[in-house]
Amino acid sequence: MTQLETVHVPLGDRAYDVVIGEGLVANAGARIAPLLGKKKRVCVLTDERVAALHLETLRAGLAQSGIEMAALALPAGEATKCWAELSRAVEWLLTEKVERGDVVVAFGGGVIGDLGGFAAAILRRGVRFVQIPTTLLAQVDSSVGGKTGINAPHGKNLIGAFHQPSLVLADVSLLGSLSPRDYHSGYGEVVKYGLLGDAEFFDWLEANGAEAAAGDVAKRIHLVKRSVEMKAEIVARDETEQGDRALLNLGHTFCHALEAATGYSARLLHGEGVAIGCALAFELSARMGLCAQEDPSRVRAHLSQMGMKTDLSDIEGELPDADGLLDLMAQDKKVKDGQLRFILARGIGEAFVTSEVPKEQVRGVLIDALAAR
Ligand code: GLY
Repeated sequence: MTQLETVHVPLGDRAYDVVIGEGLVANAGARIAPLLGKKKRVCVLTDERVAALHLETLRAGLAQSGIEMAALALPAGEATKCWAELSRAVEWLLTEKVERGDVVVAFGGGVIGDLGGFAAAILRRGVRFVQIPTTLLAQVDSSVGGKTGINAPHGKNLIGAFHQPSLVLADVSLLGSLSPRDYHSGYGEVVKYGLLGDAEFFDWLEANGAEAAAGDVAKRIHLVKRSVEMKAEIVARDETEQGDRALLNLGHTFCHALEAATGYSARLLHGEGVAIGCALAFELSARMGLCAQEDPSRVRAHLSQMGMKTDLSDIEGELPDADGLLDLMAQDKKVKDGQLRFILARGIGEAFVTSEVPKEQVRGVLIDALAAR
């Protein structure tokens, strides 16, 4: 095993560690055993794709420490974040006789982490859970910070609870089984951290992001660790998003409108939308005279250097016009008292939250971005 990194999420009696490194699934038992009482058994929620690739490694990794495992594999994909699959998961956990003191394991990407965490939050009024995120997006974002939930017909993530995990095992060996597109989608969230609060990290990504994408393990560990450190620090300041946690939504107001416009389909993955959204948020910031004119070009240059979607022209098929996109933005759940909240930037690494954004400026950015398609 190569180097291991641990990031502590300091949340008082809900504090936990995020362990980042290689081979963590193969050795999961040693890390999970201290959380268990006399009953050496865990229930694992996963998806069919992850189960086919990695479930036997997890089973062996738990067995090494004498931990037995039962698993339920749900269908892979965003459609699983629904009442029917949640109810199936909770009923299964009850059938498996999971008690208050037991530990549930969520083994998958963001969908399984969100649904599994929510199932753990509501089962017997809350049982502990361990996140073993299998995608880059889940390792750097959704597995950390305790947001759990499912989607509603009214919109994404509208039903849920804050429920912090007891441990997160981010095994970078799993990233090798991601398609380049899924890796790059997660990388959209990584770039976001540099852009929102750490210009040096963005410099590092410009110099090292391509090697990390090509498989350099030490670089992958570094980029996951730095992302998790930044998320942990923001979550510790504002666990339930009363203020600063909204910084993590850099690029997301544009992203959510684009995801809605593309029907939450494979036309645009979440992290791809975040990347394009970050570029648009910097464009808006530059037009408002908040950051240098060069900053949006630098953001776009890095995304295209990485072979990522950068502009609206990279999204295939029809998109609504600027007013249509503005309407979709207004439906974002981050709207407060009817005011759209934006995360803008005074420069790379200097994001802030504001409601003071003239609609005409946003419309102007969208009209120009659509015209370039
Ligand atoms: N993904 C944004 C947050 O956890 O707050």
